[in-house]
Amino acid sequence: MKIGFGCDHTAVELKNILMEHMQAQGYECVDYGSYSPEEKRDYPVSGRLVAEAIRRGEVDKGVLICGTGVGISLAANKVPGIRAGVCSEPYTARLITEHNDCQIVAMGARVVGSELAKMICDSFFSAQFQGGRHAKRLGMIAAIEEDYGYADAPVK
Ligand code: RB5
Repeated sequence: MKIGFGCDHTAVELKNILMEHMQAQGYECVDYGSYSPEEKRDYPVSGRLVAEAIRRGEVDKGVLICGTGVGISLAANKVPGIRAGVCSEPYTARLITEHNDCQIVAMGARVVGSELAKMICDSFFSAQFQGGRHAKRLGMIAAIEEDYGYADAPVK
């Protein structure tokens, strides 16, 4: 599996720690920046970059980090077909895969420490989507995009 990583300037250190953690487990990781805390990168830039990379099939899943995880997940969720969930503990990280089939786990570098963040990643990436009644609900989410006319927007 190929994982795309993105963050804003508040979360460069945690992003690097998590990339190393996942690489050590054999995952291929692609860094979409920010690359340095001195590079003032607004979170929508990275949220969009990683979400579009998933939509293009360049990477399979993503990890996004800003101060709280909220802003960067809001940006990613604007890309059609993308589901990003903010997590601050491993239980939710498992369920956003099992129930919501999220392609992206988002976290807050000002909220979680690095060891907890590693556990969140491990939980997210080891879970499997359960389908069934959950697939029906994801269809209902996709229908919102269709109703607003952007589900089939060309891949950027
Ligand atoms: C940046 O100061 C901060 O607003 C951002 O990292 C994030 O927390 C937004 O949701």
